[in-house]
Amino acid sequence: MSLIFSLPSILEESRREYCKIKESLESGPKFFPVEKIYHRKSEESSLLARGDNLDFIQYLLREKKMEGKLQLAYLDPPFYSKASYDAVIRLKSEAVGDVPAIKPLAYEDLWKTGIEEYLRMLCVRFFLIRDLLSEEGCLWVHLDWHVVHYVKILLDAIFGEKNFVNEVVWHYKSGGTGKRNFSRKHDTLLFYGKSRHYYFRPLKEKSYNRGYKPYRFKGVKEYKDELGWYTMVNMKDVWQIDMVGRTSGERTGYATQKPEQLLERIIESCSRPGDCCADFFCGSGSFAAAAEKLSRTWIACDIGGIAAACSLKRMSVKKSAFVLLEECPDRQGDELEIRLQVEPIDLTDKKLVTVTLDGYTMDMKRVSLKREDREILKKFRKKDPLQLLEYWSVDFHYDGRVHNPQFSFPKENHTMEKVCRQIVSDTGKISVRAVDVFGNSSLKVLDMGEVPECEREMEE
Ligand SMILES: C[S@@+](CC[C@H](N)C(=O)[O-])C[C@H]1O[C@@H](n2cnc3c(N)ncnc32)[C@H](O)[C@@H]1O
Repeated sequence: MSLIFSLPSILEESRREYCKIKESLESGPKFFPVEKIYHRKSEESSLLARGDNLDFIQYLLREKKMEGKLQLAYLDPPFYSKASYDAVIRLKSEAVGDVPAIKPLAYEDLWKTGIEEYLRMLCVRFFLIRDLLSEEGCLWVHLDWHVVHYVKILLDAIFGEKNFVNEVVWHYKSGGTGKRNFSRKHDTLLFYGKSRHYYFRPLKEKSYNRGYKPYRFKGVKEYKDELGWYTMVNMKDVWQIDMVGRTSGERTGYATQKPEQLLERIIESCSRPGDCCADFFCGSGSFAAAAEKLSRTWIACDIGGIAAACSLKRMSVKKSAFVLLEECPDRQGDELEIRLQVEPIDLTDKKLVTVTLDGYTMDMKRVSLKREDREILKKFRKKDPLQLLEYWSVDFHYDGRVHNPQFSFPKENHTMEKVCRQIVSDTGKISVRAVDVFGNSSLKVLDMGEVPECEREMEE
């Protein structure tokens, strides 16, 4: 039977689920702040969440009272490709020598009961995201040929046909050609306003004159570059933007990573600096990176550990201020080997505290890997275990509840700072939090009061 006959019931079932969720919002799922990075109380905070976005949206509606507050939502969900996607993680250490990159599973786009399950998954989220959006807000849904035509029909019903604004085609070059079809080299992005009052600022692009020669029309400003003469026109709905290349500085190794340039166009045209913009399937954090660059408050969520680690590192490198939330926070800390040294500073009541990250014993049970990757991991675990970390941070004034670090150290170019120093006047608790390449986190709390001054080594 054609799927067209199922669309009304997919819509109706999703609407019912949405109503049920709204009725029981008060007892809905919880998220917990696990780290506040460069966060200042006075400011609206960006959020990076690890967990199911259906739960996270409920959390935003209930705890953050975000109904009607979001300016822009960008969704780049799995495309119903019926495939699994790996991340490419390159670990490098002289102690281990040359080894191939490991390729753990990043996420699956497999739907046991088929396309209806997939469309219901999207639909219920569309209903809820519509409630988050302000009257000036808008939604962008990034898909491709697999399902975009079905999703357009569902979105017309949920957002209203009259609120459909654009179908933007992102055209790119990539490897692989079709032998029995034209090579598939574009994605489709559906753009809807929440209402007819949606905010939009047209962007400009170059339009080359025919023959690259000057037209010399009266009143039309013309420019010239190395190709020839052009005018500036309002941007059209077909965008030619390169994918993130192998040698690009943006490249994270996360499968299906989108280029920041694409996301910058969406953010620039549909929001203003300071507006709150969200990506509920954030993967490697490309949207958050673009939003940060354009001074927007951002919200990003992903269910996967590798995505969470990748986004955390990416935003930390950018020195972004944000709160990290988890649906199921890790409670482990024993894997971290930390050395703490407290030295009095002459003629003051202050102390110099040195925290040294000495080791990390990855719990191999926390990761699922192919056999060859597991062997590589074992080598690093033995010879250079800190390579397995993506990020660590230190809070010299731990309040016993939320880790609020003054220092954050993302791994960059395979190297990471291992020593952290701070002058303190109190001798309370210090917390150290680390996240490995798979997104497993560890929090270790140390008591400065228990460390005799001058020198004492703490090894776990
Ligand atoms: C196409 S990728 C996003 C890639 C991303 N735009 C980037 O540039 O890296 C889709 C993402 O959706 C995530 N995802 C799938 N189901 C989810 C759910 N229920 N909640 C949160 N994230 C989910 C996957 O883990 C995956 O990272």
